[in-house]
Amino acid sequence: MEQLHFGVDYYPEHWEQARWDRDAALMRDMGIQMVRMAEFSWHKLQPREDVFDFGWLDEAIELLGKQGIYTIVGTPTAAPPAWMVHKHPDIFPVDREGRIRGFGGRHHDCQSNPTYRSYIRKLVAKMAEHYGQNPYVIGWQPDNELGNSHQELCTCASCRQHFQEWLRRKYQTAEELNRAWGTAFWSQEYNDFEEVPAPRITVTGENPSAMLDWKRFCSDLIVDFTREQVEIIRRYAKNQFVTHNYMGFADKVDYYKLGELLDFVSHDQYPGGFYLPETPHERNHILAATLDVVRSYKNQPFWIMEQQSGITGWEIMGRAPAPGQLSLWAMQSIAHGADAVVFFRWRTCAMGTEQYWHGILPHSGNPGRRYEELQDFIHEVNPLMEKLHGSMPQAQVGIVFSFEQEYAFQIQPHHKDLSYTGQVQKYYRALYEQNIPADFVPEQGDFSKYKLLLAPLQYLMSPELEEKYLDFVRQGGHLLLTMRTGVKDKTNLCMTEGELPGRLSEAAGVEVLDYDCLRDAQVKVLFGEEEFVANIWSDLLRLLPGTETLATYGSEFYEGEPCITAHAYGKGVCYYVGTEPGEALMDRLLAQICKNAGAEPILPPVTDVECMVRENDRERFLFVLNHAGETRSYQAPEGYRLLKGQQAGNLRPYEAQVLLMEK
Ligand code: GAL
Repeated sequence: MEQLHFGVDYYPEHWEQARWDRDAALMRDMGIQMVRMAEFSWHKLQPREDVFDFGWLDEAIELLGKQGIYTIVGTPTAAPPAWMVHKHPDIFPVDREGRIRGFGGRHHDCQSNPTYRSYIRKLVAKMAEHYGQNPYVIGWQPDNELGNSHQELCTCASCRQHFQEWLRRKYQTAEELNRAWGTAFWSQEYNDFEEVPAPRITVTGENPSAMLDWKRFCSDLIVDFTREQVEIIRRYAKNQFVTHNYMGFADKVDYYKLGELLDFVSHDQYPGGFYLPETPHERNHILAATLDVVRSYKNQPFWIMEQQSGITGWEIMGRAPAPGQLSLWAMQSIAHGADAVVFFRWRTCAMGTEQYWHGILPHSGNPGRRYEELQDFIHEVNPLMEKLHGSMPQAQVGIVFSFEQEYAFQIQPHHKDLSYTGQVQKYYRALYEQNIPADFVPEQGDFSKYKLLLAPLQYLMSPELEEKYLDFVRQGGHLLLTMRTGVKDKTNLCMTEGELPGRLSEAAGVEVLDYDCLRDAQVKVLFGEEEFVANIWSDLLRLLPGTETLATYGSEFYEGEPCITAHAYGKGVCYYVGTEPGEALMDRLLAQICKNAGAEPILPPVTDVECMVRENDRERFLFVLNHAGETRSYQAPEGYRLLKGQQAGNLRPYEAQVLLMEK
């Protein structure tokens, strides 16, 4: 089958059937090649326990198929119907305060509940059997945004029992559990796994080791929940793909592990989300990082399953995308590795929670400026998508990104403004501003392809990971480590064998003898001749022989002491950053480290202009994206020809240019 590149999320069941033909014709004229449907329509598919009705979906699939539009089927397990939860109220999730979360929204389900699982098995098998050979159905999306709304859910009796089984498999004996969790503190010892609670709110404090395992368990439960559906789907649907719509850096499920179940990863991208910062400076690097992390989960091109198509909003709303901005954002997704873009949603919904989450068509259903803009965009970009298919950015810098570190910092953030993902994004920002592309890489990933590896906050440490970092540097890599590295073992107990960062001192050439949590204070830092500021934390370092001081503290009782260092080790270099550099210091530091490591910018930076490269064996595609509502110019590189855009080097407001170099 031809490659498909553009689609919409479509909810025919929200509208009169008499309208469907017009929708399909409008989609076809716009260049839409596929729709995703049904991911919330459980009741429509199974209105009663013993009644299944796939007729309406069959008709929609066929009507669209006849217009050349293929379907991705969503399984509706994010919205169990009222008849089911009424009959089996134990399906409702129970939060950490012991409150039942009821019907009326979505995700009102406990993912371990055996009754719920059996309903799912039955429905998904029926759907997969029914659509597994349908020529108009190309793929599947089990559930929707797995992990969304499952913050700390669920603590019901079923989840408690599953958690106990999970612990039993991991630790075998209660003694081992007690050791791993450090339960001697505050008399928390267990005689049997049956005594272990699902963590409800406590009177005071929590056991960090228990909480870390709970978060791991919750993630594993979501993977298991998905696996069950994927296995059923694959039994019937031999030639259809299975994907899932991720949410970038969302943390409820380890997306690397979830990705092992999928043919490829998809993601929902809302650059103008009302919950995001508004200024380009605060926002654009987060959008880019989000797309890069999504590509990195399977280290392959991905799909966008929901790309913003209008104002976002539930109770409150975001800004209206300016003319050109929706296309620019779609192009940004493509630039970072999307092989297909599905817009959310086709038509703005007249009912329910998402009445103000705008689609391509307004409430009236009449095509307007968003339809016209995206129609032009699709017609222009579709041929380019053919060429781009399968190409990848080739980053020289990797940023280590791990869900477990995120969990550990959620449990003990140290400082009110410190988050693991936030810290990772601060390092990413400095690369982004300098047009240096980066991949994210899991701790178990391949480090060897990077010249420079940034590994902020490597808090939970294992001997294997230590060895991997040491080896990376020995082999000639440049590694950046930071404060709070090697603090804990994998069970979230503090390391006690020596000074931080543990065995990594060998590469870093420093020992952390003391530290200061800065609360609201900033500390001055002298780097070269210049004075900067840093935040959050100061490590007080003892340097081992041969370690070079790159920056010193310029205030506090440790004024004059080293703050950022470099140490040659094996064939490589290890940098240690004992604080959170403010933006100016971060820019300066990373510019120098990237230069030392030989990691090069794509183009000289221009404010609000983003650059990205995708390449394959034959061709290199350069994307230049103007996020400003004003013209911008950039230095068009030699050897490229313009594939998309009016004049290479001159960007109109929100213009995206693509240039090609044949290798
Ligand atoms: C996504 C979700 C969609 C819809 C959209 C707008 O997170 O997958 O179902 O809710 O946001 O709110």
